Formats: sequence, C-alpha cells, structure tokens
Amino acid sequence: MQNSSEPDWPALIRPEIRAIETSGIVEVFDYGRNKQGLIPLWVGEGDLPTPGFIAEAAKASIDRGETFYTYQAGVPELRAAISAYMSAHYGAGLGPERFFVTIGGMHALDIAVKMTVGPGEEALVLAPAWPNFAGALACNGGRAVFVELEATPAWRLDPARLEAAVTPRTRAILFNSPANPTGYVASRAEIEATLAIARRHGLWIIADEIYGRLVYGGARAPSFHDIMTADDKILFVQTLSKNWAMTGWRIGWLEAPAALGPVIENLIQYSTSGVPVPTQRAATVAITQGEPFLAGAVARLKQCRDIMTEGLAATGRVELAAPEGAFYLFPRILGHDDSRELAFRLIDEAGIGAAPGFAFGPGGEGRLRLCFARAPEQMREATRRLSAWLAR
Ligand SMILES: Cc1ncc(COP(=O)(O)O)c(C=O)c1O
Repeated sequence: MQNSSEPDWPALIRPEIRAIETSGIVEVFDYGRNKQGLIPLWVGEGDLPTPGFIAEAAKASIDRGETFYTYQAGVPELRAAISAYMSAHYGAGLGPERFFVTIGGMHALDIAVKMTVGPGEEALVLAPAWPNFAGALACNGGRAVFVELEATPAWRLDPARLEAAVTPRTRAILFNSPANPTGYVASRAEIEATLAIARRHGLWIIADEIYGRLVYGGARAPSFHDIMTADDKILFVQTLSKNWAMTGWRIGWLEAPAALGPVIENLIQYSTSGVPVPTQRAATVAITQGEPFLAGAVARLKQCRDIMTEGLAATGRVELAAPEGAFYLFPRILGHDDSRELAFRLIDEAGIGAAPGFAFGPGGEGRLRLCFARAPEQMREATRRLSAWLAR
C-alpha cells in the first residue's frame, strides 16, 4: 500500500451508522480494565467458567469433524431440546419449528427488530434499559422511545404511561423482564396490561425473557407465554449465556411463529450463515443436562444479592430495591448525581468497577449498575469497599 494522507474514514460511511452512540459503559470500562486489584462489577456476566460437561460436548463435536456449514435454523437436535425445555418450563405446545438458533440473544434481538421496526419507526422500550436495545434499533434505522418504570423503590410499570407513548410510528414494544439493569420482574398483571396495549394498537411485542429463570422467588418469572394466544404477535429473545455460564460461546435463540421460518432463515443466512455446530452441541447438553448447575447458580446468586443489598442498605447512603430477578443491583447513590464521575472515582478510590447509570437511559442517572454474579467472598469484599467509601 502506498503512503498517502489518511482519509477521514468515518466521514465516508453512512451518517446514520456513524451517529450510533457508543455505550456509556465502555468509556469507564476502558479506563479501569487494567487497574490492579479492582473488583469488576460492570459487565453482565458471572465469574464461573462454563461447566466441563458442556465444554466436552463441543470438543467431541470437533473431534467428530462437525466443522461444516449447517442448518440455518439450528441443528434439529438442539431445536428439539429447546422445544422440550420450553414446553417443560413455559407450557406445552411449543414445537421445535418455533425455535431459531442464533449467535447469542443479541443476534436474536437484531433479527426481531429487523422483522418489525424499520427506518423512521419506533419501538417502546422500558427504561432504565440495557443500552443494546436502543443500539439494535438504531442499527436498523429505528428509534427507541423510552417509557420510564417507576422506582417506588421497587420498580413498577404504569401501563397508562406505556400506552400514552404509542404514536402512529410505533411498531413494537420491547419488553425486558426480568430486566437489566433494574432487576424489575413484571407481574402477571403488568404483562397482561402490556399485551392488551399491543393488541389494541396492533403492535409487536419483542419479549426479552433471557433472565426468566434467574429469579429469587418462584421457579421462573411471569412470561408472555402464560397469557398469549396463537395469534398474538410476540417474538421471544433467549440465550444460553447467563443460565449456563456461556457468554463467550455466543449462542441463543429467537422464538417466533413457525410460519416466519423461511424469513428468519434468510436473515440468518445473510448475516451469520448459522451457528457453529460444536457450539450447538454444547448448547444441547446445557439445556438437557444443565438444571442442577442452574439451580446451584441461582442459590449462589441469591446469597450474593442478599450480601450486597443488605450491606449497602446498612450504609444509609443508597436507595435501592432488592432485585427480584437478573443479577444486577441498581442503587441510587445519595449525594452523587453524576454517575459517570462517580464510576470513575470508584475505580480510583474504592477499587470497584461499576457501570454508570446514565448509560441505561432515562431514570438511570444518579445510579450505578453492580453485577453481583461473583463469588460470595468477593461480594463481601466489594460491599465492604463500597460501604467504606460511602461512609467517608
Ligand atoms: C437483557 C439482555 N438481553 C439480551 C442479552 C444478550 O445476551 P447474549 O447476546 O450474550 O446472549 C443481554 C446480555 O447482557 C441482556 O442483558
């Protein structure tokens, strides 16, 4: 390549794509990632490695030579396993033809958005919200319209507020429960009210229920599966990432009416062309044999949630509700309204990596997201550091 002056590359690409915002977590993470002794609570994953029996299935698959292209929708064995799992936990009648294997929940979300919300159109998003919802919409030319949950301090949805945000451009409600970052778990009544709004206005629901099994009361969170009928326009985003400590494997699924199969297979073909077979073998084993691991993980999470919630509440310097699901605390830190500044200070002064609340949109500023999916001893130490810093 000959030497020439560097073009202004970003100026040469489509402005809409250039304008997509970077997640507010990244800047803080980049600043602190190499700090010695820091306890990282900013990322949405735990510290447990993928269980050996899951990893072994992928190794065996590679050894068998399963290194070729495969079904766009996923290998039949995995789709059958997902169908059996979903039918066992969410109700009968969820056949394999409803499930499409994707590169993580993120890819499932992207496909769901692509099918329902186009350029110039809107989706309602409960806020505070995982930044990737607005990101996925922006990447597809759509726009997130945030509907704030009420922090009372337990998080609750006011359905009237949700309905008031519907405009002629609204195409979908992006409904995440249990929620990242708030730990909000929608009640059955809130889900019913949301479905009623979607029906009244002809909207799609994109239900992100990836934390549905990570709840601290009951076997799972209320789901749209509990109330939907076959003609409701609902797409479900799911993932193996959190339940089975598989964030780096990049595998999840989209659940949709079977008749959308050819369309979804096209979208998979023209984006990733499918999920590696060894990864799908690992996922099949996780789903069929992973219940004991999941039960242990939830018990550990509950212990960590309690350590941190009780420890921080005792400082009198925070306002927080114990999360009902997922694995994040999202406290308001009294007297610190600038969450970006606070996150930077905690890195330097407390040895804690926290995600700044402003990154999660309306209702997030003044808060921190703290992921508690780590060993209980680490959570005790993190709580001690935070409490000491808050007491200064
Ligand atoms: C609410 C929510 N949905 C979807 C995902 C996507 O997970 P993955 O792409 O790792 O499967 C995440 C990950 O943090 C999440 O928090």
